[in-house]
Formats: sequence, structure tokens, C-alpha cells
Amino acid sequence: MDSARDPGHKLRHLEACLAQDVEYRKPTGFADYEFENEALPETALASIDLSAAIAGKPLRAPLMIAPMTGGTPRGHEINRRLASVAEEFGLAFGVGSQRIALERAECAAFFGVRDVAPTVPLFANFGAAQLVQGDGIDFARRAVAMIGADALFVHLNAVQEAVKRGDRDFRSVAQALTRLCRALAADGIPVFAREVCFGMTSATAARLVECGVAGIDCAGAGGTSWAKVEARCATNERTRILGERLGEWGIPTSQSILNVRRAAPTLPLIASGGLRGGLDLATALALGADLGAMARPFLLRAVEGEAQLRQFVAEVLEELRICMFATGTAAIAGLRGKAVRRGAAGPGADTGARS
Ligand SMILES: Cc1cc2nc3c(=O)[nH]c(=O)nc-3n(C[C@H](O)[C@H](O)[C@H](O)COP(=O)(O)O)c2cc1C
Repeated sequence: MDSARDPGHKLRHLEACLAQDVEYRKPTGFADYEFENEALPETALASIDLSAAIAGKPLRAPLMIAPMTGGTPRGHEINRRLASVAEEFGLAFGVGSQRIALERAECAAFFGVRDVAPTVPLFANFGAAQLVQGDGIDFARRAVAMIGADALFVHLNAVQEAVKRGDRDFRSVAQALTRLCRALAADGIPVFAREVCFGMTSATAARLVECGVAGIDCAGAGGTSWAKVEARCATNERTRILGERLGEWGIPTSQSILNVRRAAPTLPLIASGGLRGGLDLATALALGADLGAMARPFLLRAVEGEAQLRQFVAEVLEELRICMFATGTAAIAGLRGKAVRRGAAGPGADTGARS
């Protein structure tokens, strides 16, 4: 995600995600699950409670606009549109990697969104590799202060960095993350670790818990492939080939959720990677996530216009609400465990969340 040495690279990411085929062929796995219809729901659609919380702040729905951009006038404009819609619907929001602004002060102003999103849970963002290259704690505090964030995402994107020949040394990241979590806890800032699309194993999640992270985004495969994005943005043939060869690398998002939940039964868990509508969101929650997040779908609507973005969010939430209505689920917590593996419906069905 980080491209401070070449700020144009982040803009090329945006353009590639808007114009080219950057998605996995591999599915998220959500389609392997379904909800059992409740013909007598004993609830009114309008009274269904979507409220949730993250980083100590309330949300009106369990949905986040995942980190993507910032640091340039175009990125700023997109972020402000995303952030103001997050404010309107009571969603969480994260800015893209702030590395560029940590190294070039003149870019910092292009990350600000607080004036249009005064109450949203706002996440700062930078990459794990910076933690070990410089003074990670100082970087983190500056990133949080720069945007008035409530929490910090540290993104773990080893495959992407390897493909684009960026930061290829991830030794001591866990150690540095432990120090960071301790330091920021003292500031009252929760640190969340996140993948970017390659998913997580239970063992990785257990190590992150040991580091003291306050939450995880288990971002898995099935949506935007960051190996493919790097292939599309490559300026040399070898990176292009590497990106293509590793384009399908990653643990599908449904499995990534189950893996992290198994290792961290009560840790705040965000699910991203390939969520494309309200039923995907409901399935992610049923499998164990507390919140779902989407990146590229919001980007595509944001560049069309604020009305299109607003309409998309409303549609996603309507689909989630109908799913809850049709399963007789009055509040978000009640969805947990309600998705059953296709073909396994009935008593004793295999619900992923309980496995
Ligand atoms: C244009 C774009 C830029 C992104 N930049 C970042 C970033 O700077 N930091 C980060 O943690 N994730 C970044 N991501 C990854 C997303 O947050 C998300 O994990 C990933 O795209 C999978 O979600 P999706 O399938 O809904 O797109 C970016 C995604 C997009 C589409």
C-alpha cells in the first residue's frame, strides 16, 4: 500500500482499481453458506436494530468504508465524499496509508476529513514495514494526530510488497507491533492489525493477539487482488509477471473470518475482501465478524457521485435488514451462527461460526 518513494503509484492504484480487471477469480466462500428462512419472523422490518460499535464509538450499522486513499488532491476529494457519507449513515471510515504524508509534510493536509465526518470512528493507517524501519511509535502518533483518528490500522501486506519489490523485510514486525500497541494504549488509541486481501491463519491471529492488538481486519481473498493491482500498475515486466502469478494467492475471506474467530473468540473483528452487498455482509457477521468493510465497491460509486454512493450504502443496508427480518433476527448480535453450509440445513447443521 505504501509508495512514498513514488507518490504517483498510489494514484495508479486508484486508476487501476477503477478501470481494470483487478478482482480474484477465486470466490470469498460466502456463497457456500445460506440462511434458513423464518416464515414467522415475529419482528417488523422497520424495528430491526442495526447498531454496532467499534473503537469505543457507536455505529448505526455494522459497516466500514475500508482504507484506500488520501495524500493527493484527487485522493482527498474521494475521501471527503466517502467520509461524509459515512457520517450520514453512521458508518466507520479509514483513510489510506499515510506514509506519504509522514515523509512529506506538504501531503498531510490531503488526509483531513474530520470537518465532514466529526463523529465517525476514524482509523489512521500505515504499513507494518515502516514500524521496523523508523521510529514506528512516533510515526503512529503523528498519523493519528494528523487526522484526529480514534484508532490506528497497521496494514500487513507482505505479498504485495514482495510483488512490487517494495518493503521485503518483515523481520521483527511482531516485536515492534507489541511495543506500538503498548505505547498507543497509554494514549487511549486502539491499534488494529489488518491484512489487505490475502487473509489470515488462526496461528497468525493468535500471534497478533499476543502482540496486544485491540482488533483485527482479516481481509481475505475473493475481492480486489493486490497482486493483480500491482501487475496492472507495473513499470517493469518482472513485476507484471509476478503479480499475475500470485494474482490468486490468499485465504478466502469466509475462511479467514473463521480462522481469526477461532483464535480470538472475543476480539473486535472486521471482515473485508470481496464483500459486495448486504447478503455478503450478513454472512460475514454470521461467520463471526463484528463489522464488514468494503473498499472497491465504495470507490466505484464515489467517483460516480455522492448520490450513487449514498444509494449503494442504502441498498446494502436494506439487504442486510431483509436478511435479518427473514431470519427473525432483531439485532446484529443475533446473526452470529445463523449461516449454515449449503446442503447442511436442518438440526445439527454445520454453522461455520460454531466450528
Ligand atoms: C484503491 C484502493 C487503495 C487501497 N489502499 C489501501 C491502503 O492504503 N491501506 C490499506 O490498509 N488498505 C488499502 N486498500 C485495501 C482495502 O482496504 C481492502 O482491504 C481490499 O481492497 C479488499 O477489499 P475489497 O475487495 O472490498 O476491495 C486499498 C484498496 C483500494 C481499492
